[in-house]
Amino acid sequence: MISLQVNLPGREYKIDIGLNILEKQLPEAVLLNATDHVVVVTNTTLQELYPDCIFNVLKDSGMQVSTCVLPDGEEHKNLATLSQIFDFMMEVSANRKTLMVAFGGGVIGDMAGFAASTFVRGIPFIQVPTTLLSDVDSSVGGKTAVNHPLGKNTIGSFKQPEYVCIELSFLKTLPSRELKAGYMELLKHGLIQDADFFNFTLNHSVEPLDFNYLEQAIFRSCGIKGRVVEQDETEKGLRANLNFGHTLGHLIETHAGYGMYLHGEAVGAGMCFAAFVSWRWNELAENEWELIRNSLGQFLQPVKLANLDFEIFRDLILHDKKANKQAVNFILLKKLGESFIQQETSVEKLWDEFRQFTAKFPEIVELE
Ligand code: NAD
Ligand code: GLY
Repeated sequence: MISLQVNLPGREYKIDIGLNILEKQLPEAVLLNATDHVVVVTNTTLQELYPDCIFNVLKDSGMQVSTCVLPDGEEHKNLATLSQIFDFMMEVSANRKTLMVAFGGGVIGDMAGFAASTFVRGIPFIQVPTTLLSDVDSSVGGKTAVNHPLGKNTIGSFKQPEYVCIELSFLKTLPSRELKAGYMELLKHGLIQDADFFNFTLNHSVEPLDFNYLEQAIFRSCGIKGRVVEQDETEKGLRANLNFGHTLGHLIETHAGYGMYLHGEAVGAGMCFAAFVSWRWNELAENEWELIRNSLGQFLQPVKLANLDFEIFRDLILHDKKANKQAVNFILLKKLGESFIQQETSVEKLWDEFRQFTAKFPEIVELE
């Protein structure tokens, strides 16, 4: 097992990463909280694959453990499903001392975190991520949210977990498509901040699972994210770099319909587009742009977008949290391992580039 810490004043927390660590680490972390009631938030898929997993791990701790099982899927990451968590909390008489445990991928983590940040004005929560994407990205950093039909993750809060337990054995049941999607967020952290980590990640495949590699990769990925969050928790500036690829990624998810493309797939296509723009605008060297296209491209399924014209493109981008007025703060690459925020990027200019990108690389994104 390896561990690291996110050091936010008064809200520091530990992240443990390893194989078969949950049974020992989770009860210890839970006992650090002055609580006698744990509410686990999970979904139907996890409940079927790992029946009452967290309940069983905590059953000898003397706590009451209640499990709220939500429908599975990005299409359920909305206010209606969030309400189901609150209904459940009321039914089991949860209160300010209740501890929440999010057991699932990024969708469960984001929704449980949001519920924990608002139920009785805030209760503590622990992340037990079960997908590669949530191991390397969403379980760390405290962004929580649900989607609005017009904009991805537009309703949410910042709420740091008390502890993150990254149990690698859950990855054994994760479908191949989900592993590849999580791999995109690993590559993202290398692309924006650490060329050596990008190359390290590219030199190892996610399949078949290699737990020694994964432990290292997740550790380095959480480290990159944790250091950024320590400097800019609420995204006043620096943290926006973590949104590399997300302007187009969120547009794809919202326009295609939540759940059609996986978050990591949409972000992967968005990172290719952002690297293309970086090259076209003379920031990124041509050989680096080509390396990025070739290396990401081999893991991406083509994204097909129907009925997307400039007006829809503009409206979706300007609904995005990163936008203001008629322009957007767009993340570009200066070189492999170094991103920057291009303030007030014109949506018209991005649309021009997007048309060229889709015409040249329909195997990444195609306009139908
Ligand atoms: P997900 O939570 O939908 O999980 C993917 C699928 O895998 C689901 O069907 C889930 O039930 C299933 N699954 C989960 N664990 C499994 C396991 N061990 N074995 C088999 N199946 C399993 O998707 P995700 O990719 O984990 O997360 C995507 C979400 O995360 C998006 O909503 C995105 O907006 C959010 N996100 C948040 C942040 C953040 O900082 N908060 C960062 C990145 C992404
Ligand atoms: N996934 C972007 C962030 O956490 O800021």
